[in-house]
Amino acid sequence: MMGAVPRKPSIAGADTHRPASLASLYSQREDFYRSILDSLAEGVIITDGDDRILYVNARMREISGYSAAELIGRIGYEVLSHEKNWRKMKRRIRERLTGSAENYEIEMLRKDGISTWVRVSAVPYRLDAKVAGSVGTVTCIDRQKTLERENEYLRDELGVTAGTGDLIGPSAGLARIRKQIGMVAPTNANVLITGESGTGKELVARAIHEMSPRRARPLVRVNCAAIPKELFESEFFGHVRGSFTGAIKDRTGRFELANGGTLFLDEVGEIPLELQGKLLRVIQEGTFERVGEDRTRTVDVRLISATNRDLEQESGSGRFRLDLYYRLGVFPITIPPLRERREDIVPLATHFLAMAARKLNIPTPALLKSHSGELERYPWPGNVRELQNVIERATILAAQGPFSLHLGAAPKAAAAPIPTFHTAPPAALSEWKQQEKELLVAALKQARGKIYGANGAAAILGIKPTTLASKLERHGLARESFLNG
Ligand SMILES: Nc1ncnc2c1ncn2[C@@H]1O[C@H](COP(=O)(O)OP(=O)(O)OP(=O)(O)O)[C@@H](O)[C@H]1O
Ligand SMILES: [Mg+2]
Repeated sequence: MMGAVPRKPSIAGADTHRPASLASLYSQREDFYRSILDSLAEGVIITDGDDRILYVNARMREISGYSAAELIGRIGYEVLSHEKNWRKMKRRIRERLTGSAENYEIEMLRKDGISTWVRVSAVPYRLDAKVAGSVGTVTCIDRQKTLERENEYLRDELGVTAGTGDLIGPSAGLARIRKQIGMVAPTNANVLITGESGTGKELVARAIHEMSPRRARPLVRVNCAAIPKELFESEFFGHVRGSFTGAIKDRTGRFELANGGTLFLDEVGEIPLELQGKLLRVIQEGTFERVGEDRTRTVDVRLISATNRDLEQESGSGRFRLDLYYRLGVFPITIPPLRERREDIVPLATHFLAMAARKLNIPTPALLKSHSGELERYPWPGNVRELQNVIERATILAAQGPFSLHLGAAPKAAAAPIPTFHTAPPAALSEWKQQEKELLVAALKQARGKIYGANGAAAILGIKPTTLASKLERHGLARESFLNG
């Protein structure tokens, strides 16, 4: 009958009643299948009975580094595996041709000579009822393997420093902080810790992670003050080889390393504006891309940030996105400076004294009433870190003589204005930078070019030596020029 609609659409595609788009799909069947295969996240390789390559999809070309023309017609195991594995591979292929599917992990040899770990699952296919070859899907597990190693390493490394123990001090201020830690730790809320330099922000961040359900996963720290501006994106999100000069191999970003765990963004106020939008997106959607890659990745990360800047004020002057500030600080914790909780000074000093003496293997020197009074009166611009330094230095000196505090050596620290958020930064960024530079120069002069140690410029400024080093670099200051100043 003319015009009868066939009940069963035939793939052969002669049916004119089919919607035009679908019909054209079928007529271009090969392209259609190819595009499906090319869209897969796994590599696909089809070989004949001799393991001669008949087809590779886009991902397979990407993993191996070869073009299709370079692979098609060649013996698969000879191009893509190390010679030491050839016998094993040949046996596998024979077995597969008897009709069994298999899964294995092997080192694949890429075109550039680098090996990469892959997981292969190979299934035989038949033509005219006879096994004619196999279809393999290939998953790159290199990243997984390095990630496992990196995580192990990070956990080990953290195991050492995480033993810093509890927050010491009987003040009401610290009691409130402990309560806040207890409240927020079990949740997934992002925490923003503010406080002057040396008040214990990192200690609090670690305590939150250690008390959270994520404690078995890594706590990954990024010091945002130490990252050159142009490397931020790669540091956070990773990059693929060749995506920029110097990107000589693929790199896993901090977000991926922290997956399932906690990412600690130290000195978060230093993140450049351009990157703040990208950070916001990971927070909101949990997705990002590596630099130089289109593939969107998903992560589950809890963020703890710390800063000694007033981010709300910074956002008022356009240096920090207000929306990001709110996202980071769902749960804000503010640590008061040591001078506002003087009850903590002597207990902290006693603790640091015992620790330093144990480290030096000497009997713990006694802290006299006069010492206590001296410590309690001092303003501690470098907060707990400065106290720790003073006590450690006094303990070292006590190994050869009487125990006495050298707050006189630290007055430099007292005299030097500290660039923390209680001194309002000047309106213009350039002015602020100029002031910072002047401070750095003054501190370096005072320390005669020394960065580290109790008399070093870092201690004078109450910042970490590594932070100082990166600041010097940013300002183009060479400490050598102050060596005899
Ligand atoms: N309440 C506390 N009890 C015991 N140790 C403390 C306490 N607060 C701070 N510390 C110690 O003081 C030192 C400085 O603390 P931390 O590094 O956490 O400060 P921070 O606020 O991150 O400083 P910065 O802003 O310079 O990075 C560390 O050695 C830390 O262990
Ligand atoms: Mg810190």
